[in-house]
Amino acid sequence: FANGLGLTPQMGWNSWNHFQCDINEAVVRRTADALVATGLAKAGYKYVNLDDCWADYQRTKEGYMIANPKTFPSGIKALADYVHSKGLKLGIYSSAGTRTCSNRMPGSLGHEDKDAKTFASWGVDYLKYDNCYRDGTPETVRFGRMSRALKNSGRPIFYSLCEWGYMEVPKWGGMYGNSWRTTGDIIDTWSGMLDNIDRNDAYARYAKPGGWNDPDMLEVGNGGMAYNEYVVHFSLWAIAKFKCSVLSTHARGKSSLIDSSSCVPIVFGADRMGVQGNKVKKYGNDLEVWAGQLSRHRKAVLLLNRGATRSASITAAWPDVGIRRGVTVEARDVWKHETLPGRFTGSLTAVVGPHSCKLFVLTPVPR
Ligand code: DGJ
Repeated sequence: FANGLGLTPQMGWNSWNHFQCDINEAVVRRTADALVATGLAKAGYKYVNLDDCWADYQRTKEGYMIANPKTFPSGIKALADYVHSKGLKLGIYSSAGTRTCSNRMPGSLGHEDKDAKTFASWGVDYLKYDNCYRDGTPETVRFGRMSRALKNSGRPIFYSLCEWGYMEVPKWGGMYGNSWRTTGDIIDTWSGMLDNIDRNDAYARYAKPGGWNDPDMLEVGNGGMAYNEYVVHFSLWAIAKFKCSVLSTHARGKSSLIDSSSCVPIVFGADRMGVQGNKVKKYGNDLEVWAGQLSRHRKAVLLLNRGATRSASITAAWPDVGIRRGVTVEARDVWKHETLPGRFTGSLTAVVGPHSCKLFVLTPVPR
């Protein structure tokens, strides 16, 4: 799907996981302000994305979708102008069915061209396209129609397929869109989160610049997990090259573990290499090593302890993480913001607490 977008995965905010249908233009504007004020925008969080419930219940007599007049009285064009004035991009949402999942607004099935042109005329930069109220035609057909409509809309629009992993989407998603969901909706729990990233992991080889696997948005800050579990959540999404993807908090000024200083995994988000990191080694049921190639011969390496009770020592051995045996590296602890003392040849071992991880960037050094 060559529209020139998504050379790195999308990063930004989306309204759904935190606000669901309780959104309005003030929340969106505040979020745009917060992305800039916290430094997240500068770090790459550019998208401000509306999810379900932004539109009026029915189309107009002429068949156009319009913003809900109560919650978005200024309209989407004005919102896009505001978001653009902050150097950010605006995303919108619809469904490849007759209604969206909330059933509070129309879907775009049968109206693909009209809606794509409307979104483009408002200055929209991104479309998340959901899969509710479908008519029985296959996802490839319904999502493909919107793909063509967006291409003909006169504006480059990032196309995020939200088909919940149906029809083995990683095999066809790249023909139609810039990202595709590999899973159902994320649940804000430790096991729900791990379930999504494990499913997503099976498709690592299909991710590439321009088209990405989407294990669904972050829940970080929404309250269902402990701090250390959110660090794992964030780190896994980062190494799997869905990066820091889409934050759902922030607009209510809730404290979040992710501020500009701690959001270092973004370093992967901006990385042009475009290789999805994946699970490379398991020790028993609980201990895992994940690894991903970064630019300039660096590796991202994540040591994960899924166990609930005990700290454990976990080893990343060079053959497992894809480093040649004799190579010596320096290791930077991404969350601690510090380089470990000494150098490592052959392997790196660290002690990892229960439901926790350590995330390193390994850089080869001359011997
Ligand atoms: C289902 C999607 O998977 C969610 O991410 C969200 O967009 C909701 N629908 C909205 O109704």
